[in-house]
Amino acid sequence: MKVVPIDLGERSYPVYIGRDIADLGRVAREFDLGEKVLVISSRPIASLYGREVRDALGSCGFQVSLARVPDGEKYKTLSWAAKLYEECAEDKLDRNSTILALGGGVIGDLAGFVASTYLRGINFIYLPTTLLAQVDASIGGKVGVDLPQGKNLVGSFYQPRFVYTDLKVLRTLPQAQIKEGLAEIIKYGVIEDKDLFLYLEQNLEKIKTLSLDSLEYIITRCVQIKAAVVQEDEREKRGKRQVLNFGHTIGHAIESGTGYGRYSHGEAVAVGMIAAARIAKKMGFLPEDSLVRMENLVRRADLPSRVEGVNGGKLWDALYLDKKIKGGKLYFVLPRRIGEVFLTDKVPLTLVREAIRELGVEK
Ligand SMILES: NC(=O)c1ccc[n+]([C@@H]2O[C@H](COP(=O)([O-])OP(=O)(O)OC[C@H]3O[C@@H](n4cnc5c(N)ncnc54)[C@H](O)[C@@H]3O)[C@@H](O)[C@H]2O)c1
Repeated sequence: MKVVPIDLGERSYPVYIGRDIADLGRVAREFDLGEKVLVISSRPIASLYGREVRDALGSCGFQVSLARVPDGEKYKTLSWAAKLYEECAEDKLDRNSTILALGGGVIGDLAGFVASTYLRGINFIYLPTTLLAQVDASIGGKVGVDLPQGKNLVGSFYQPRFVYTDLKVLRTLPQAQIKEGLAEIIKYGVIEDKDLFLYLEQNLEKIKTLSLDSLEYIITRCVQIKAAVVQEDEREKRGKRQVLNFGHTIGHAIESGTGYGRYSHGEAVAVGMIAAARIAKKMGFLPEDSLVRMENLVRRADLPSRVEGVNGGKLWDALYLDKKIKGGKLYFVLPRRIGEVFLTDKVPLTLVREAIRELGVEK
């Protein structure tokens, strides 16, 4: 089992990368977690892995109960958090008790939020079940819920006691969700690690077919990269964490400008990364061959680098909304080369327009 330490002073925690849920109980016993564990999961994930998790913890002496939330982002809400608080109270969880999130990013955010607020904060542990949650959402302590007015508007920073990433759970994950994770993994390669990018180029097929050794390598590397960013800027105060937004300026505008239905987050980020790379090339920062490598890898990962049916006016409205949020300026994370990016607010709007046109956005 691999262990990646996340070094955040007294909030430090390890991420275990293993291949068998049965190891979870033994790992949990190494921490002072009390006796009661409430597992919070979605209905489908509970049917797939609830029993294994229960057995793993139960066989090590924990008293385990399970709360199921319906599947999907639309349940990452305050009203579901309230139902879960009641479940905590009915199960008589106390200050020493533990909430375990078993699921993707939606469950991690919701269960982590409940753990961070019930009794002003109880132990939180996370078994992420999507590739995206394993490389991204489980690291860094952002927890929260959505409001009708927008995503992730209520939340806090709350670090888990540990994360247990099991590689084998990815075998039941639909291919579309593997692609969601791949978009973020390509992002990590471009922002921080040319060797990871090269590894992806050379081993993409193995990753798509879920070779455990390849998954272990890329997930370990991505966790290390996100850990390094979070360690430098835990609460997003110093700007370092913003490099993680590579591909998100235009990507987010595509998602919100199309009402969050047409393109998934990973697809929108892939398109946004290509647009940012083209802008960087036009501004003379990024060499042509690096742009071509990025376009090829995105295509081979079955992610889009063009869009269809996206209205230009709505996309610009969404971009301007972002601009307002960031103090009147349009920020881009641009690649200088594969493995290095920088943050700028000096991209000429004509280039943004050109890049958006090249994506196939309608007038
Ligand atoms: N906290 C953070 O730092 C952070 C970072 C990125 C994203 N997020 C949040 O994460 C959420 C998206 O997370 P996600 O992409 O993991 O989606 P998700 O949690 O909705 O899971 C996607 C789908 O995959 C299914 N699934 C999950 N694991 C499975 C498995 N092993 N086998 C079969 N099916 C499985 C789920 O039931 C769901 O239908 C968003 O709410 C986003 O805001 C949080």
